Amino acid sequence: MSPIGTMAEIQQLLAGAIPSRPPHGFAYLATVDAAGAGRVRTMTLRGFDAAAGTVWTSCHSASQKTAHLRRQPQAEVCLWLGETGVQLRLECTWRIVDARAADPALQALRLTTWEGQPPAAKALYDTPAPGTVPEPFCVLRGTFQIIDALLIRPTAYAHFRHVRTGSGWYSEKLAR
Ligand SMILES: Cc1cc2nc3c(=O)[nH]c(=O)nc-3n(C[C@H](O)[C@H](O)[C@H](O)COP(=O)(O)O)c2cc1C
Repeated sequence: MSPIGTMAEIQQLLAGAIPSRPPHGFAYLATVDAAGAGRVRTMTLRGFDAAAGTVWTSCHSASQKTAHLRRQPQAEVCLWLGETGVQLRLECTWRIVDARAADPALQALRLTTWEGQPPAAKALYDTPAPGTVPEPFCVLRGTFQIIDALLIRPTAYAHFRHVRTGSGWYSEKLAR
């Protein structure tokens, strides 16, 4: 029995991976810089929606990574759920949801993500009026069509590929 064989199982795993709920999950976000070099950094996972095929994290809008993603929005993010021995590689296209985003649903996501930030992360910004978000705070929302899922434990190994097909997902077990 593998916990990564279907998108429903992956959603269940990730439901416990958002900060403050174990198992804690981190995201390793790759980007390409202005010189064409690959860059990578640790990010805190803020949300995952298997049905919508989206994942999100947050950062300062003046960060290097946002500049990289504006130039090249196609970039992989690798999630490592250490306590479960699961790696998920998501082939994403990124949307930078900053103060200028016009879509009310995206601004609602930005507000709930801000409100869910721990105090130490909030302290990096000026305190906003209640119900508002500091101007430089932004959400990075990745939309994905393909997930490479690997379970790697001392006693178990499994490898799956999940591909978006219309409104659902096609899941295939890989030989190795
Ligand atoms: C455990 C951990 C979690 C982190 N989470 C975030 C995060 O959620 N958002 C963020 O902008 N930076 C986060 N960072 C810092 C980034 O890894 C990175 O150093 C910083 O954002 C600057 O990256 P950039 O210059 O490529 O934009 C985290 C670092 C660590 C070690």
